Amino acid sequence: MAEPLEALLEEGRTFPPPPEFAARALVRDRGLYERADADPEGFWAHQAAELLHWDRRWDRVLDWDLPFARWFVGGRLNVAYNCLDRHVEAGHGDQVAYLWEGEPGDRRRITYAELLAEVCRLANALRGLGVGRGDRVAIYMGMVPELPVAMLACARIGAAHSVVFGGFTADSLRDRINDAEASVLITCDGAWRRGNVVPLKEIADAAMAATPTVRHCLVLRRTGQDGVPMTEGRDRWWHDVVPDHPATCAAEPMDAEQLLFLLYTSGTTGRPKGIMHTTGGYLTQVAFTHRYVFDLHPETDVYWCTADCGWVTGHSYIVYGPLANRATSVMYEGSPDYPDKDRFWAIVERYGVTILYTAPTAIRTFMKWGTEYPERHDLSSLRLLGSVGEPINPEAWVWYWQHIGGGRCPIVDTWWQTETGAIMISPLPGLTVCKPGSATHPLPGIAVDVVDDGGRSVGVPGGGYLVLTRPWPSMLRGIWGDPQRYHDTYWSRFEGRYFAGDGAKWDADGYLWLLGRVDDIMLVSGHNISTTEVESALVDHPAVAEAAVVGKTDPITGQAVSAFVILRSGYEASDELVAELREHVARLIGPIARPKTVLFTEDLPKTRSGKIMRRLLRDVAEDHALGDTTTLADPAVVEQIKARYLTTAADEE
Ligand code: WT7
Repeated sequence: MAEPLEALLEEGRTFPPPPEFAARALVRDRGLYERADADPEGFWAHQAAELLHWDRRWDRVLDWDLPFARWFVGGRLNVAYNCLDRHVEAGHGDQVAYLWEGEPGDRRRITYAELLAEVCRLANALRGLGVGRGDRVAIYMGMVPELPVAMLACARIGAAHSVVFGGFTADSLRDRINDAEASVLITCDGAWRRGNVVPLKEIADAAMAATPTVRHCLVLRRTGQDGVPMTEGRDRWWHDVVPDHPATCAAEPMDAEQLLFLLYTSGTTGRPKGIMHTTGGYLTQVAFTHRYVFDLHPETDVYWCTADCGWVTGHSYIVYGPLANRATSVMYEGSPDYPDKDRFWAIVERYGVTILYTAPTAIRTFMKWGTEYPERHDLSSLRLLGSVGEPINPEAWVWYWQHIGGGRCPIVDTWWQTETGAIMISPLPGLTVCKPGSATHPLPGIAVDVVDDGGRSVGVPGGGYLVLTRPWPSMLRGIWGDPQRYHDTYWSRFEGRYFAGDGAKWDADGYLWLLGRVDDIMLVSGHNISTTEVESALVDHPAVAEAAVVGKTDPITGQAVSAFVILRSGYEASDELVAELREHVARLIGPIARPKTVLFTEDLPKTRSGKIMRRLLRDVAEDHALGDTTTLADPAVVEQIKARYLTTAADEE
């Protein structure tokens, strides 16, 4: 029915790597791409050997029984050994692994040697609680150093962790524990959030009321409030148990395909999927991408990924990638606006952060707050900026470049998914000429295509569905307990290819543009219009900080464009501004994309990981009952928008 996405919004600006950056970048020529193109499996085998320590070399690089992959078959390695011991053995024990910034007042510097000792103690303690190879351990904590410690302790003994983001409810935690049949839960008494305590242990107790498999719960004291309920025989304090264990623990070699972790992703429909990631291929690709996409120089860089460890970005780019590469990382517990809106920039200045990896939702929020906050601080240590999680609107990209990067830092816009495990599409910062808003090209060793409804390549230029055409080392190995769903969700839509669920287009120069989830794409008068492109056109207007766009049923055009807009500080809502924004979109994209309604709002409904939930805005625009709002960061936001919409958003035509 639908035709492929049309290439609408044109972006003419190009940004070559700044010469000072390129001069000392790890990748300065196309050699990696050429070697990967010539022999993809040989290329990954070379990376695996070069970046990691193997206790036993693999017999075969890849067994591919579509859609089931096994990488580095027969190889053996230990993830914790690769992230910790080998650096200490090589004399880097005193190098800082984490510069931890807690909510105001708390700071810790943790070296590789200290991290190793703590991981060993906890690994021994977990063994003492009966955890062994193949068991699942649930982790429900805030952003404290003991969270990576817990992940690595599991990896050390071959248990799989399932980290559940500390903002999830008791029901979500319960469902994830039960699906994984976890035997141990590691949590905290509480977590700090903007000066308040989130009572994690109480929430965990509510979950554990109905988790028959949990035998033990280990509780880290973080917030220190009195009266934390402890259930006799099940619950133990970390500080009562862990320090008594020895600070050494043999790192047994694991099979390359040993389950490393489960991470649940909700997607748009159905119950959460337990995405499975294993050991050798995962660590190879996260180490490779962390090193080359972020141009990591471990001796001099201070790297900061602002994600939470509860998301895949935290797994791959706060814990496993950086530690495998012996990075020094900042880890931050709090919020961007507590105690004030300059918090990120104060941290960059304090620690001399050189590489910053954050999300478009944060960048657009900083745009809305204005430049006075970054201007309060010296950001000259920064040399590279990254973006992940959503398409970055060109104007947000340029703002990031100018106001955070000072025009001297390349920006890597990194496309990937929980399922891909590691970055798949991204510039290489010393090499790629960037266009704001384009993730540019697949990385070496990664093969993508853009196809139409029938699975045919659309060619360059052209738009359609993003697919991955070759297995990759850090690919998900399945959905926990549901191989059929794994096949149906990712491998049935286009035969033999992985369906990512995102719209994409090639521009005339062969650059890739990610256009958002296909469920979000609108169909107006028979034209596929990307919500991302209309949102980018709106954000291009100086008055607009952030925008979300959905299709609303329309008797004439099938769907009509309905826009929700947050203004930058200093701008007022008015009918004139509505008219101006509609014309602005029509001029940049074409009259077909002109929003029929524009509603100004203070906030947008977002998931806890910061993604706009267009599905709920569609419910508002269609005047339907609101669908499931349990994954929202703040469910009140959508109620307010709904009330506002009903009273003010008369159609403009
Ligand atoms: C979806 C995956 C990747 C870790 C965090 C999100 C969107 C992610 C980009 C980007 C355009 C992006 C896609 C993707 N996405 N990065 N750079 N440009 N879109 O992981 O929660 O599994 O979400 O996030 O729609 O499919 P996730």
